[in-house]
Amino acid sequence: MKRIEEIYSRISENSAHFLGYPLAKDFDYKAYAPFLNLCINNVGDPESPSTLAIDTKDVEREVISFFADILSSSIEDVWGYVTNGGTEGNLYGLYLARESFNNPIVYYSESTHYSVKKNLHLLNLKNIVVRSQPNGEMDYNDLESLLTLNRDKPAVFFLNIGTTMTEAVDDLDQIKAIIKKYAIKDYYIHCDAAFLGCIAPFVDPKPKFDFSEGIDSISISGHKFIGGPIPCGIVLAKRKHRNRIVNSVSYVGTLDTTITGSRNGLTPLFLWDFIEKHGIEGLIKRARKSQELAAYTEKRLKEIGIHAWRNNDALTVVLDKPSKKLCEKYQLASEDKIAHIICVPGIEKSQIDAFIKDYEKELLVLEAFI
Ligand SMILES: Cc1ncc(COP(=O)(O)O)c(C=O)c1O
Repeated sequence: MKRIEEIYSRISENSAHFLGYPLAKDFDYKAYAPFLNLCINNVGDPESPSTLAIDTKDVEREVISFFADILSSSIEDVWGYVTNGGTEGNLYGLYLARESFNNPIVYYSESTHYSVKKNLHLLNLKNIVVRSQPNGEMDYNDLESLLTLNRDKPAVFFLNIGTTMTEAVDDLDQIKAIIKKYAIKDYYIHCDAAFLGCIAPFVDPKPKFDFSEGIDSISISGHKFIGGPIPCGIVLAKRKHRNRIVNSVSYVGTLDTTITGSRNGLTPLFLWDFIEKHGIEGLIKRARKSQELAAYTEKRLKEIGIHAWRNNDALTVVLDKPSKKLCEKYQLASEDKIAHIICVPGIEKSQIDAFIKDYEKELLVLEAFI
């Protein structure tokens, strides 16, 4: 059908060009095409079968077990499921936090993804925005002064393990030191590792963000560093939190532990396929290659006189916002005066070179006017 062909061409053309979003492009799931003719539904809890037996829950459990492992835990201690993306995982973590205490206060930095504010609103959770440092990391002095005023209230710390704009990582050690200093007994730690969840376990030095550090839950996007045609994600939480909210539903014969009832059965297949093909070694290789490309991008930008920087070995290169025309051509996300290029798998050096060439041309034209 002509209309569908046009939509296909538009999307494939546009995905070939974007540089500003954390979406890996190097996947190939054509082998799974036959599943498109099936009705698949992972309704309810991944560990509990349903009377509707058209699911991929066995594969989903393997995916969860892989993530539990790279996040320094095991399925004996943590539980999780494949979500529709990072936003749902954050909503879930905050939901578990809310159910853990009476009227807790959520602390999160101003660099946090926009969806979190909405999640807090949906859950009717009291919350306080903490200032950020210029690199996007939480301002711990501000956190401390806010917490001093609310020492008597249970606290939920919502940490960014890679902020959207600058890939900044909040420092769990600093937050733990504040918790200790004010003797906060009732607290919950959720990590939003939408992009970095599949990278941070393999970075040296490794940020402190996983279950070995005492976190309560974590959300990761599946379609970002791993990549895939359908948005998805992984949420993991300590089992005791999931057990607190479990309900059984006789209608589908399963446990109602997830945010949505019906759940995607295709995305667990894609994540499982990635894990089978690449495993931990593959993730490490992808991370290193992407870091090298990010280092190259930063260097090239500086060489043409652009102010560019990265947080440590980030895949995100922050740069002064170029013209609207360039932002549109390369689909660069921007905020205030900055834009970023995210060096995900599937982005080639030649694309970076083409961007640099275009940017250089623009600078020459500008110089001619001065
Ligand atoms: C830090 C962070 N958290 C959450 C999200 C939302 O994730 P998703 O788009 O998978 O729902 C994003 C998306 O870019 C993000 O960068």
